[in-house]
Amino acid sequence: MPTEIPDILVDSFGRRHNNLRVSVTDRCNLRCVYCMPEEVTFLPRAELLTFEEIERVARVATTLGVNKVRLTGGEPLLRRDLPRLVERLANVPGLSDVGLTTNGILLAREARRLREAGLERINISLDTMDREKFQQITRRDDFDRVIEGILAAKEAGFHPIKVNAVAIRGFTEDDVVPLARFALEHGLEMRFIEYMPLDAGRLWEREKVLFAAEMIELLEKGIAPLRPAANQDPRAPALDYDYTDGSGSVGFIASVSRPFCMSCNRLRLTAEGKLRNCLFSLEETDVRGLLREGGTDPEIAQAIRSCVAAKWEGHEINTARFIQPDRMMHSIGG
Ligand code: 5AD
Ligand code: SF4
Repeated sequence: MPTEIPDILVDSFGRRHNNLRVSVTDRCNLRCVYCMPEEVTFLPRAELLTFEEIERVARVATTLGVNKVRLTGGEPLLRRDLPRLVERLANVPGLSDVGLTTNGILLAREARRLREAGLERINISLDTMDREKFQQITRRDDFDRVIEGILAAKEAGFHPIKVNAVAIRGFTEDDVVPLARFALEHGLEMRFIEYMPLDAGRLWEREKVLFAAEMIELLEKGIAPLRPAANQDPRAPALDYDYTDGSGSVGFIASVSRPFCMSCNRLRLTAEGKLRNCLFSLEETDVRGLLREGGTDPEIAQAIRSCVAAKWEGHEINTARFIQPDRMMHSIGG
C-alpha cells in the first residue's frame, strides 16, 4: 500500500500543528491560586472522554500530521489507570512522542508504570522549595510528596525531567534561585513560566508578571552568569540559557514579555472533548458529540481541520483588546 502523505494542519498564518495537548481530567489534588479557586465544581464522570475516545481523536490527528501528544489535567494522574492510556497512545502509529505534565503528587506511585507504558517526557510543576510557601501557593501541604515524586521519576529513568515554575511578582522572587539550585543538583531542566491571565480569581494583573529578564538577573546574582544557549531552537516556546560556569542550563517561557504565538504548533483537547486552538481561545470545537453520535473519522478530521483553520494570530495579553477566557487553567491543561 502506498504511504499516505499526512494532510498537514496549517492555519491561515502558515503555522503547522503537530502537537496535541490532551486534558484527561479537570480535577486536581492541589488548588494553586493562579489556576483555580478553593471550591470548584468538577465535570461529572460521564462528561469526560473515555480512553477509547481520546485514542480515536489522537489516531485521526496523526493522519493530519500530529506526532506529539502531551497529557495534562487538572492533575492527569488522578485519572485511574492513566498508564493504560499512555500505552494506547504510545502504540498509535505516527505518534513518536507521548509526554505528561503533572504536579508530581502521585508520581512516586506511578513513575515506573508510566515509564513501562512508553511515556517519553515528563514535566513536573513546582513553584517553590519552601514547604510553607508551597502551602500558600497550592492550598495543600504536599511539598514532600512532590519532591518524592520527582526523585521517583529520576529513579524510573526519565530523562530529561522538566520542572515548571510559575513566576509571580511580589510573591515568588525568593523562590527562583533555590528552585534553580535544586534543579542543578538533581540534573533537572528548570523552566520558569511568566504568570498568565488564566486564573479563577481574576487576580492577574500585568504588574504581577515577573519577567524572564528579571529572573535572569536574579539567577546571575544568585548562581552564575548566563548566556543564551548555543542550541536554542527559535521555534521553541522556551528561551534557554546556559550558566557560564558550565553547571547547566535554565529555560523561560516568556508568554507575556516575549509571546511565541507566531511559532505555536499546539492544539488542545479538553477533558470533555472540546478542541481549542489557543490557551486563550474564546471559541471551541466540539468533538465529543461526533464521537458519541456515530461521527466518522473523516468528520472528526474535518472538525480538527476547521479548528486549526480558525486560529487567530495570537493572544492579546499585551493589548487593551485582551479578553480573558471563562475557562480556568485547570480545565484547559496548560
Ligand atoms: N500562568 C502560567 N502558568 C500557569 N500554570 C497554571 N496556571 C498558570 C498561569 N495562570 C502552569 C502550571 C503547570 C502548567 C500546566 O501550567 O504551573 O506547570
Ligand atoms: Fe492543579 Fe496544575 Fe492547576 Fe495547580 S496548576 S491547581 S497543580 S491543575
